[in-house]
Amino acid sequence: MRVLGIETTCDETAVAVVACDEEGRGSILSNEVLSQIAQHSAYGGVVPEIAARAHVEALDRMVARALSKAGCGLGDVDAIAAAAGPGLIGGLLIGLTTAKTLALVARKPLIAVNHLEAHALTARLTDRLAFPYLLLLASGGHTQLVAVRGVGDHLRLGTTIDDALGEAFDKVAKLLGLAYPGGPEVEREAAKGNPERFALPRPMLGRPKPDFSLSGLKTALRIEAEKVAPLTATDVADLCAGFQAAVVDVVEDRTRVALREFQEKVGHPPTALVAAGGVAANGALRDALGRLAGGAGLRLVAPPLELCGDNGVMIAWTGIERLRLGLTDDMTVPARARWPLAELEAPPVGP
Ligand code: KG4
Ligand code: ZN
Repeated sequence: MRVLGIETTCDETAVAVVACDEEGRGSILSNEVLSQIAQHSAYGGVVPEIAARAHVEALDRMVARALSKAGCGLGDVDAIAAAAGPGLIGGLLIGLTTAKTLALVARKPLIAVNHLEAHALTARLTDRLAFPYLLLLASGGHTQLVAVRGVGDHLRLGTTIDDALGEAFDKVAKLLGLAYPGGPEVEREAAKGNPERFALPRPMLGRPKPDFSLSGLKTALRIEAEKVAPLTATDVADLCAGFQAAVVDVVEDRTRVALREFQEKVGHPPTALVAAGGVAANGALRDALGRLAGGAGLRLVAPPLELCGDNGVMIAWTGIERLRLGLTDDMTVPARARWPLAELEAPPVGP
């Protein structure tokens, strides 16, 4: 089984072909990613209109390249999958309409993929993980702790009440004059800094529900930065180190609470702790989550870095998971800017 996957929810135009053998083992035949970072960096964030235009200009070429690198034609794939949400509506319309057109022309099934489910299921491609597992999804747009029970069957245990984790990294970077996207910049600076110089809060620490709140931490950092301005290179490094240490403490605490809640709500322990989304690339965070998982007798599964951020592989793989269960979509399926995991359609019988 082979599926073509298209990802255009944010600022990456990505297309991939993924195959799956009879035992359910997946392999990546191609993985094309075109980042728009250069077009957005001058604005310190993603500009939706620029993103949509860049997707429309690049997508046909990216589809052709992904097929040719996979050594196949459109006729050789078994389905076309595209991210249909959540995300920026302009990009979603371009990706989904392209997928519909390809599916119509090649007479292949269409699969409208939820971008969050695609992040959630990547660990099954990379590690052949069995359900159920606990997922920490942390990206520029999303921060969620989810019990992944099956395809289309996800229970959200916690989320952020304000900024997403990646968004907080990006905003802190902007405030300190660092480049966009901020996560990798803040991590690089933090490695040189003293995490204890500035006393920053740990919002939500110890709360009984595994939710997040990042805006207070961001404000506290801004106040500290204003106190010592103009900022030297050491100030920037120390502020980044303090911020990252606070985030790591918060994520560790919230994930610990989610593990407890998982046991209560799902009835048995998870098969693993999975970290996904761009923020899961953060080394300090991975280390802390690894320790937490180890302490709970679990394995930490974090996809390789190129599969942490947005990519077409995760969309194609989710297409495969859904196709195997007969879950395809018709041509009327809409693009959805907002599409919570809880609103996904689950298969009638679990896999
Ligand atoms: O999953 P992703 O590529 O795109 C979506 O937002 O869906 O995540 C991008 C986010 C950005 O906010 C970026 O700053 C953050 O992930 N990020 C990081 C790191 N690398 C990327 N945050 C912290 N540390 C990193 N090393
Ligand atoms: Zn994403």
